[in-house]
Parts: sequence; structure tokens; C-alpha cells
Amino acid sequence: MTFKDQIKRRRTFGIISHPDAGKTTLTEKLLLFGGAIQEAGAVKNNKIKKTATSDFMEIERQRGISVATSVLAFLYKDKKINILDTPGHKDFAEDTFRTLTAVDSVIVVIDVAKGVEEQTEKLVEVCRMRSIPMIVFINKLDREGKDAFDLLDEVEQKLGLSVTPLSFPIGMGYDFKGIYNIYEKNINLFSGDSKKNIEETIAFDDLDSPELETIIGKSAAETLRENLELVQGVYPEFDRDSYLKGKLQPVFFGSALNNFGVRELLDCFIEIAPPPESKMAEERLVRAEEKALTGFVFKIHANMDPKHRDRLAFVKIVSGTFERNKPYLHVRHDKKLKFSSPNAFFAEKKEIVDISYPGDIVGLHDTGNFKIGDTLTEGEKLHYKGIPSFSPEHFRYINNADPMKAKQLYKGIDQLMDEGVAQLFTLEMNGRKIIGTVGALQFEVIQYRLEHEYGAKCSYENFPVYKACWVDPDDPKNEEFKEFKRVKQKFLAKDKGGQLVFLADSQFSLQMTQQKYPTVKLHFTSEFD
Ligand code: G4P
Repeated sequence: MTFKDQIKRRRTFGIISHPDAGKTTLTEKLLLFGGAIQEAGAVKNNKIKKTATSDFMEIERQRGISVATSVLAFLYKDKKINILDTPGHKDFAEDTFRTLTAVDSVIVVIDVAKGVEEQTEKLVEVCRMRSIPMIVFINKLDREGKDAFDLLDEVEQKLGLSVTPLSFPIGMGYDFKGIYNIYEKNINLFSGDSKKNIEETIAFDDLDSPELETIIGKSAAETLRENLELVQGVYPEFDRDSYLKGKLQPVFFGSALNNFGVRELLDCFIEIAPPPESKMAEERLVRAEEKALTGFVFKIHANMDPKHRDRLAFVKIVSGTFERNKPYLHVRHDKKLKFSSPNAFFAEKKEIVDISYPGDIVGLHDTGNFKIGDTLTEGEKLHYKGIPSFSPEHFRYINNADPMKAKQLYKGIDQLMDEGVAQLFTLEMNGRKIIGTVGALQFEVIQYRLEHEYGAKCSYENFPVYKACWVDPDDPKNEEFKEFKRVKQKFLAKDKGGQLVFLADSQFSLQMTQQKYPTVKLHFTSEFD
């Protein structure tokens, strides 16, 4: 197979949803179709369990296990499919945001009864900002839920999407009879005990045919005809180009648990979803077909086994091939590195691989060389951008609780921040260090890991901050900015990259500051134009 064919056959994507909508179940069914796993439950066992939310050690342990499921790859109809895991737990939302920089498209799972939920809104917003192609899967049709048209409206309004259904449910809940596949023009009938089997489909071009009544009954046939007429009248025709540009989102209905509507989704997905194409680096646009390797680190996972303290850095290959034992340039360190055992991921396991292609993810063993956002090339000084930091939600002073171990503490903090566990801010006024996290859980994780991995002890002190805002003055030399810096001195800090940050202690003070210093722009993310 040529290099170009290898690229064309790859589909690298993420599944996003609010917890419980059915992401894990759908992932598992997709793997079953690919023959990558033999039985249901294999993925599920690796999921961060809901009951463990207050038990951070349990979560970390499960996260350790879930390294293997960070990337799930399988072959289906000769396509190489890479599913990148996106934690649904909101305390790990930042992991998910970062993972979204490495996907070429996304499937959004929505619960038919609950509709659009909070976490889905946040994640879809990030995808929309980046124009990532999205397919929506409305799940749990075997249960009573919202009316299909109401749901489509909700998706458009709350998520700001422009949808077009490619399948349509016949009934719902108790009366759920099946799905009409608008894309393939066939009917899939539902039978309650089809949990493990792939259903037989009936091709059905002509919905006016009286045969429809015999298959699904008179009233269901009438409703289906009416609904499809409405679909045709209201929604735009599917157009791949608009989908690829992130301007149109096809919608599928189904039940992941009952394996219903999943094959339709997958078949359509491999046809329409984009292979890896090009990615913007700070310096230039890099095309996947370029021969020289380029890639970037989007995730770092600590090894939970205390005997093996190394970490696994996940690199998304953007162009060229990644080969084992070949030297690559670590651009930030300006240093050549060779990797003797790069990992590739298959279903639930990882193994050493000799060559990987654009779209693939390789896992590199790392002892502290990498941080999130690092670029690897064959010599070119290239920087991939697009992994911004978001304002954390919780802030605390971090203090050294064992003066003999200061070095260990700072090394530990440094490495944990590189992994993206939390963000570090250093106050301008007195050099004190503040940790900012998305969830309160991370403070315990940091404390535990500092002690067990670095032999250092820390304590925390409250520091009331409402939001961290990255400071962007229109003119760094004007009087207004000088006054801002003088008056707000107590609330100014540097982030780990040296950017100036304003730590607003309340929404009110943030608004007042914005009003008083209009030429000093304040951003909630670290990247802005
Ligand atoms: P998540 O990864 O998005 O958090 O969701 P997950 O797949 O774990 O699904 C959450 C719950 O919803 C699970 O039930 C799962 O079995 C159920 N579910 C998923 N798809 C469907 C569907 O199509 N129909 C119905 N009726 N239920 C579905 P649970 O009771 O929380 O877990 P379990 O005990 O069944 O494993």
C-alpha cells in the first residue's frame, strides 16, 4: 500500500458526550464491529466509574488502567480507525479539550431523554471553534425520550449546530420499531433481544410502497412518511463539503446498548469522515502527504506503576512516517531523540511498532523530556499551536511542607504541570506559587503524586480567585497599562510560559477592571490573536 493510501484509509476521531449518554457503550459496539474485541464489557471495565468520584486514588488507579484505552484502534472495511478517548468526567475536561486538538472529526452522543447536557455544550463549543466535522448520534431510542424534531431543534439551538438527519426513528421507547436510514435508503427493524446480533436490513427505496405497512404497521408507516416529508422540507440535503467544513452536522438515531443504528453510523462515518489532512503550524501549513515526519504531543500519562516511573507521551502524527530508532528533533529542546520502543495502540492493548502514519498516535516512553504541545520533526523548527490553557476553576497557594525536599517539590510541580495536571501561576509581587485546577480533585492527586513519585510534601492555602485572565494590552507602553499593573499588582502573576495573568477575585472586580482599563484586554484562554 502506498503512503498516500495509508493516509486515505485512516480515520482518527473522538467521541464526546455528557457522562452516561452512552459513549463507552458506543465505543465498545464500534470495536465489536471491527472485530477488535470479542465480547461486550471489555471497554466498560476500564471506564472511570461514577461511584468513585470522591475517591481520587481509585480514579487515578483507573486512569492508570485506562492508558491502554486512551487510543483504541481497529480495522473496519479496510479503514484504520483510531478512537481517541475523551474523559467525560468534568474534572478531566482539560484532558478532553487537549485530545480534541488531535482528532480529525468527532461523534457527539446525546441521550434521547436528557437531550443536550452541560458537558456536551462545552465540548461541542470547542469543536465548533475549531470547525471540527461532527456527526451527532442520538442514543437510547429503546427508551421513552423527547420527540425527534424537538431534539433536533434543541441540538441546533443549544449547540449552535446546523443539522440534517441521515436516519430517522420509527417510534420510540416501548413502540420503537426501527430506524429508517435516509442515507442508505433502507429500514432496520428492531427486535428487543438483538443485543448481540447485527440486525438484518431491508432495502426500501420507495416509501410509498404498500409493503411498508405490512412491515411496520399502518399507523407507524403513515407517521414515518409524514416525518420524512417534514425532514425533507425543513432540513438541508446532506452535503459532504459543508460537513467537512464544520457547517453541517448529520444526525443518526439508535441504541448503542442494543447495537441499533450503530452499523449505519459506522458505515456512513468511514465514508464521509475526513482522513488526516493538513494542520496549521505557527510557521506554515503542513500537509499530511509531506514525506518528513511532524507530530505533536497532546497528552502525557504518568505510569501508575511505582516501579516504572516513566511516562507515556502521546504523539499525533501530522505528516510523514514515524519510524522506530530513527532520530527526530525535539524542537523545544533543540535536541535529537531516538525511540527504541514506540507504542502503537490496538483495541485494548498497546504494542511496539516499527512504522506509523499520519493520523496514528504513537506512545513514547518519556522520563521528563516532553510537555504538552511539544513538536517532533526531522529537523525543521516547527511549532504546532492550538493547545490553549483555559482559566482554571479552583486556585490554591502551594507551600513546601518539608524544607529538606524543596528541590524535589519544584521538580515534581514542574513535571506535573508539563503533564497538564494543573496550571502553575507565580505571583509577581512575592514569587509565591499558586496552583489552578479544573476540578477540586486534582489538588489531592497532586499532593499524593508529589509525595509518592517525588518524595516531596506540600500543603495548600486558600486563595480566592474567580478567574485567571491572560493579559493582552493594546499598547504595553501606554499609561493605562502602567496604571493597571501598579493598581492590580497584588493580583498579577506569570503562568508557566511567562505570560502575564490577572487573577480576578470576583466577577464584579473583573467587570470593574475591564471597564476601567478598556485598552487592556483580558482573555479566558492563553491563546488569542
Ligand atoms: P458514558 O460512557 O457516556 O458515561 O455512558 P455509558 O456507555 O457507560 O452508558 C451509561 C448507561 O447508559 C449505562 O447503564 C449503559 O448501559 C446505558 N446505555 C447506553 N446505551 C444505551 C441504550 O442505547 N439504551 C439504554 N436503555 N441504555 C443505554 P448503567 O446502568 O449506568 O451501566 P451498566 O450497569 O449497564 O453497565
